[in-house]
Amino acid sequence: MANLEAPNLKLQPVSVTRKMAASLPGLRDLAQKKGLKIHHLGAGYPHPEVTDPRDFLRHQAAYFAHLEDQEGLNDESQVPEYLRESYSYTDTLGPISARTAFAEVYGRDWGVAIDPNRVIPTVGATGGINLICSMSERPGLPVAYITDAPTYAGFTARAGLCQHARIYSVDMDEEGALPDQFAAQIEQARKDGYFVPFYYSVPDGHNPAGFSFSQRRREELLGIAKREGILIVEDAPYVYINYADAASRPQPFFALDPEQTVHLFTGSKIGFPGPRVGFFYSEAILKIADGQEVSLSEMALTESSSDLLFQNPGALRGFEALLHNQTDDGEFELLHSMWPLAERKLVVYRENREIMLNILERELGAFPEDFSWTHPGAGFFTVFTFKTDKVQTDDAFIESLVADHGIVVIPMYDFYPEDAKARNPGAGLDQLRLSFCFSESVGDERRQDLTEAVEASCKAVKDAIA
Ligand SMILES: Cc1ncc(COP(=O)(O)O)c(C=O)c1O
Repeated sequence: MANLEAPNLKLQPVSVTRKMAASLPGLRDLAQKKGLKIHHLGAGYPHPEVTDPRDFLRHQAAYFAHLEDQEGLNDESQVPEYLRESYSYTDTLGPISARTAFAEVYGRDWGVAIDPNRVIPTVGATGGINLICSMSERPGLPVAYITDAPTYAGFTARAGLCQHARIYSVDMDEEGALPDQFAAQIEQARKDGYFVPFYYSVPDGHNPAGFSFSQRRREELLGIAKREGILIVEDAPYVYINYADAASRPQPFFALDPEQTVHLFTGSKIGFPGPRVGFFYSEAILKIADGQEVSLSEMALTESSSDLLFQNPGALRGFEALLHNQTDDGEFELLHSMWPLAERKLVVYRENREIMLNILERELGAFPEDFSWTHPGAGFFTVFTFKTDKVQTDDAFIESLVADHGIVVIPMYDFYPEDAKARNPGAGLDQLRLSFCFSESVGDERRQDLTEAVEASCKAVKDAIA
């Protein structure tokens, strides 16, 4: 063996979702041998019915042909500009046309005058999380990240990569993170000697908590963040996977205060996850070493240029195509809003959500002292809670749901940061994350499969407490 040493490097713990993915094939075999149908309520993936790329590819080809027409090339040997650009090195900001289109449409939807020069492309929202963590960790100080309990597993995983980072979590009620605890955790982290750069959350369609923060709570949290001088990192994959009517939709943090917020947009849910399109947007100004004032987006750009260096221009131009509509006379115009794009996805998610909530209500509504579940205003999940202590939603319980009922769900306990488990060792051990976004079937078969999955789950949880 080579004599290589990294004495300070620690192994990352394996997440429950990865452990489950590894044990699933065996459990599924077991279930299938018993003649059980497999019910998918675990995966948080976009539904295949609304992520068939073929229509998009036709649309993209027509948009690119239109760009070529506009260039008016009459010599076949000349490579059209859009094509040359799509397959060349670009700069860290990527094509301006994609950022301008995004800034205009997204800005109109949320009432923010977005400056395209501050729109920094990222590899999905995941890349945005990485970017803000990487910037925060750069000074090498012990760093504390404030986040919700429970929080998004991708965030915990990224934060865990930094051995001098620690999570201070904030419990939630049905309106969002608790303001007093939020303020207390910032104070405690500072007392413990940590630099506190931001609070990370998913206020719309929280993954995994299965609800959206109320407007009032957002304003309270924002007030505290402002007073304490920390950023709010708003991960927003589900802002458009939204079930609330326009008038009662809460405002994203970046619409309330773009100077206090880092907003992470992703094309994964409104478009497609594969192309990995995301944008990091902030109007924050930071005081850095030597009292210098710089814009956060400038810092993020430098960070990104030494990380990714070049964006994928083809994927960004593809996203630009998605932001254009072809009119009846074959012309292309910028969308007025992204909501019509969202509507194409919502036809499935809205219906699935209704199926799940209706069946839960029909089958379990009579037992409010035993069970409750969230009514998500956005996103892909509802969180189901056992209100009696007869059941612990630990690995053994999750495995028995697969092996004995064919039901695949995700336990909640692993989404609680360590400090939340220290506050409450039972955190999440009474909860399951039920996802209604994914199944392998489409159309009537999808409806039928989801119906059967939820009915089987209701029976399983009733059996569990019997
Ligand atoms: C809260 C949250 N953040 C980020 C992501 C990942 O998004 P992306 O595909 O844009 O990296 C997801 C995907 O499920 C998510 O739920």
